Amino acid sequence: MKIIMLGAPGAGKGTQAKKIAEKYGIPHISTGDIFRANIKNNTELGKKAKEYMDQGLLVPDELTCDLVTDRIQQDDCSKGFILDGFPRTIPQAEALDKALTAMGQSMDYAVNVDVADENIIDRMSGRRACLKCGATYHIITIPPKSEGICDNCGSELVQREDDKPETVKKRLDVYHEQTQPLIDYYNNQGILRTVDGTKDFEGVFQDIVMILG
Ligand code: AP5
Ligand code: MG
Repeated sequence: MKIIMLGAPGAGKGTQAKKIAEKYGIPHISTGDIFRANIKNNTELGKKAKEYMDQGLLVPDELTCDLVTDRIQQDDCSKGFILDGFPRTIPQAEALDKALTAMGQSMDYAVNVDVADENIIDRMSGRRACLKCGATYHIITIPPKSEGICDNCGSELVQREDDKPETVKKRLDVYHEQTQPLIDYYNNQGILRTVDGTKDFEGVFQDIVMILG
């Protein structure tokens, strides 16, 4: 099963992708998580990515495409994978298609988690993330069992640098301009499925499982 998660920043792509990856036993590949891990480890890639991410801008395609097309050729991806936050531009989608074609494969579904901009700012301001294991919480809707501590690994939870309201606004603009065109791109390929991302976490998950079977 090869799945793409589409949706605005804060739509719930990462939250759902982790659950889906678990249920179907496939790797969860989040470009945002990969960049954040590189920033934390102060790698060259991390230093370059941080300049863009902190401003709410996209990291350039040349730093992003090879990263993902290499990753999906690793052994653990042989039964499928779920892409979260990639592709985000038409050139990224074309690079992905080219790599898959060369592997004799194609994507099965692009799941669009639909949430209106008005709902996004609230979600982002309440989000807390674990930089160690990648788990995501929300202080009101999906709180950790003990405040500020990750349920999975016990690490401290932090607020993401790019979750400040001004940066979230910029990320939404960038989404509408550069990423939303992918909805038509995958609709034209016949693999687009849209779910209502304003339902609660379990409701959205059930809707996605209905689609994936
Ligand atoms: P990335 O990490 O991918 O961020 P994003 O797409 O902006 O998406 P988010 O992770 O913010 O939101 P999400 O949809 O995963 O929502 P979540 O599940 O956390 O990218 C960050 C940056 O990296 C980009 O801005 C860019 O600079 C760079 N980058 C990454 N990929 C790139 C690429 N391919 N090309 C170029 N640059 C790239 O949920 C949000 C909150 O809501 C959480 O608090 C959660 O607990 C809560 N929540 C989730 N579901 C529900 C629900 N159903 N009801 C109530 N609350 C919910
Ligand atoms: Mg995410």
